[in-house]
Amino acid sequence: MAIRKIVTEEDPILRKKSRTVDKFNDKLAMILDDMKETMYHAEGVGLAAVQVGLLRRAVVVDIGDGEGPLELVNPEIVEADGEQEGQEGCLSLPNKWAIVKRPLHVKIKAQDRHGRWHSYEAEGLKARCFCHEIDHLDGHLFTDRMTKMLTQEELRRLQEERRNGKGD
Ligand code: NI
Repeated sequence: MAIRKIVTEEDPILRKKSRTVDKFNDKLAMILDDMKETMYHAEGVGLAAVQVGLLRRAVVVDIGDGEGPLELVNPEIVEADGEQEGQEGCLSLPNKWAIVKRPLHVKIKAQDRHGRWHSYEAEGLKARCFCHEIDHLDGHLFTDRMTKMLTQEELRRLQEERRNGKGD
């Protein structure tokens, strides 16, 4: 396993559409393992392959609820309902946080590293994370969908709350 470099906002690759994964081989397994290691090293809750420079429809997610890490290959949202508004950030946009509206509840389907399909249901933070990561696969960033960018002062306060254990 290896920690890969996370591409940031200026890199035009983040705006490209990722390709469907059709080979479920050792190379895919290695990419997914590297993505997990990279996500944990960066203390993120999700990472899309495009963020390590690979235009493949693959995502890893671990929001710390005991069900991660999830490997989502060719993920698709099959149902979405409700609405939530909350803070969102991205490992590719360090130091940017914004208020983003997302569905409260989603059902998705995705393949695993062996090509088998699975269904997942998520609410709250996990639903937000699924939507955010699937957006990456189509070249969308959270700043496209934000209702309000947090100011440096709001960001500082948020980070302080996190340090004091009050954040999510
Ligand atoms: Ni992101």
